[in-house]
Amino acid sequence: MSGPLLVLVGPMGVGKSTVGELLAERLKVAYRDTDEDIVAEQGRSIADIFVDEGEAAFRAIEKRAVHRALAEHDGVLALGGGAVLDPDTRALLAGHRVVYLSMDVEEAVRRTGLNTARPLLAVNPRKQWRELMEARRHLYEEVATAVVATDGRTPDEVTRAALDAL
Ligand code: S3P
Repeated sequence: MSGPLLVLVGPMGVGKSTVGELLAERLKVAYRDTDEDIVAEQGRSIADIFVDEGEAAFRAIEKRAVHRALAEHDGVLALGGGAVLDPDTRALLAGHRVVYLSMDVEEAVRRTGLNTARPLLAVNPRKQWRELMEARRHLYEEVATAVVATDGRTPDEVTRAALDAL
């Protein structure tokens, strides 16, 4: 199987970057994050892309970045929380080892709080989290080859659980 050794999906704030870096270290491979690719390519923050061009334009940029990273990267790859919304991306993920880092709504509210740097949570975090999770949970499950619950676990514990699930 070519492409990333491992792809991480799951909602924003679940710890994909932290756990992804730990996993890459343990597996002795490189870590890559599609959000970082987008910021580097666009020369502006994700929040700015949402404000300047709207969510649909961001999703098109994200889709290109995700497909490129899936083709190029052979280490651990973390995808932005909304990358699985795209049906072509979900189809492409079918050939890969994909770990879904999950958390429940209350954990999400606790972890991200009122973080307005995340454009999708700006108004009413609890309500928006509930809606996001309801809309996306089945999409994460659809692409996942393993699910690792992160509620109440430290990044080290999540990393170990993810390695056990491989
Ligand atoms: C988003 C998640 C973010 C980022 C953007 C949209 C989403 O990525 O791509 O703000 O739709 O869930 P992280 O999951 O890396 O925070």
